[in-house]
Amino acid sequence: MMTTANPAHPPKTSDRLWGGGYDEATHPLVQQLNASIGFDCRLAVFDIIGSVAHATMLRDQGILPAADHVAIVAGLQGILADVEAGRFVWSVAREDVHMNIEAELRDRIGDPAGRLHTARSRNDQVALDERLYLRATLATIISDLARLVDVLSDLGRRYAAWPMPGYTHLQRAQPVTLGHHLLAHAEAFLRDGSRLCDLLVRMDACPLGSGALAGTTLPIDRAKTAQLLGFAGVTHNSLDAVADRDHLVEALAAASLGMLHLSRIGEELVLFSTAEFGFVRLTDAFTTGSSLMPQKKNPDMAELLRGKSGRVVGDLVGLLVALKGLPLAYNKDLQEDKEPLFDALDTWAACLQVTADMLAAARWNRQGLLEALDRGFLLATDLADELVRCGVPFRTAHEQIAELVADCVRHRTTFAAMGPAAIAQRLGVPQAGIALALDVEHSLALRDLPGAPHPKRVRAEGVRTRRLAAKLQQQAARWLAPCPAEGMLRA
Ligand code: ARG
Repeated sequence: MMTTANPAHPPKTSDRLWGGGYDEATHPLVQQLNASIGFDCRLAVFDIIGSVAHATMLRDQGILPAADHVAIVAGLQGILADVEAGRFVWSVAREDVHMNIEAELRDRIGDPAGRLHTARSRNDQVALDERLYLRATLATIISDLARLVDVLSDLGRRYAAWPMPGYTHLQRAQPVTLGHHLLAHAEAFLRDGSRLCDLLVRMDACPLGSGALAGTTLPIDRAKTAQLLGFAGVTHNSLDAVADRDHLVEALAAASLGMLHLSRIGEELVLFSTAEFGFVRLTDAFTTGSSLMPQKKNPDMAELLRGKSGRVVGDLVGLLVALKGLPLAYNKDLQEDKEPLFDALDTWAACLQVTADMLAAARWNRQGLLEALDRGFLLATDLADELVRCGVPFRTAHEQIAELVADCVRHRTTFAAMGPAAIAQRLGVPQAGIALALDVEHSLALRDLPGAPHPKRVRAEGVRTRRLAAKLQQQAARWLAPCPAEGMLRA
């Protein structure tokens, strides 16, 4: 197949690539509402990678002349260079990223550009671009999660033996260690990472070749395009492939849950850094001053972990509602998927990075944690357990210790002030066991079972979470590896 530029048919200069059958100009607001270029321009690199793969497959199938392929790839390389240098001028009249790039290619290389969209629609094109964007972005978020888990793993081991109050209902409950507490958050972030790994596998199919909705009559090779784009295979139903946004919903659901996890740690940092708790000091890089009160150092970043979680949940809900009730296949409503997608993932990534750095820099106050253990009868359960060891049924032990606590409260005293001798005498058990039960270090040392805060167990779990973080980093690297089409583009 040969092409030569035909001077009788100069390149179309209309910006509307679909303008062929239109007599009447569109309403002025149509362009404003219809255009997505203001936000989908960030898909440009993925759109261009997709076009290189598509053009290469068309050439290999004999649908696109080799010379046109060369011109198209070179033209796209030039466009990508301009986009990445921030020189590319996006046009609202050209509506979206797909038409901006195609029209610009036509301006630059002329006729060969007209063959690029053979056997392709913006519907399968945008479905592809979003999958490529999601693959790259989720991979970097997996890497961010891994870094955060890594930071928590180091802290978990460093503070494995620092006793602190554990809370239920935000009331002092039983002793744990700071390391145990920090590693609790690491568990949640590891689950967030594995959720994204699952999703990346589930969405690993190439939608290109689905056309507008019904495939194409031309002899394309979908498997070839998929291979050039680094997908494991192709999607199996053209209608579904152009209408499916499940992976975006899953990503935003994962982002919402991930942000909830961050909001919980954020709330704790806000509380624990107050003068009332005095457990931790957030360093200056993560706090801000007040314009009025000279003494203030406000934990804005920790607060924003809470605040921004609501916004990401809003992104998820917005997307879900946009998708609800859409008939097959493509509908323009689907264009509304992008802003929540970008917003949620940008927010999540930034919050993960700031959390890792803020935690790595935070200064924990060992004395403050120990003082909080003095009040609140955190060893009441340990005393009841000691009675159990002496043969008392647990329910009876619970009652006896509850009465002991009530008496202490009445007399404004503590277990420590009362002393093991008096307590042992009142409970009618040997003093040695009571003395041990009132010792925080001993309490922690007895908690020597999987998942419990014995310092040795905490250290071992910190080693485990660090290993899992390294595995997540490997997963991220795997999904970030450039596909063959990107290799051709950047060659
Ligand atoms: N900008 C569009 C979107 O984001 C691309 C697909 C447009 N397809 C169409 N048939 N109008 O959804």
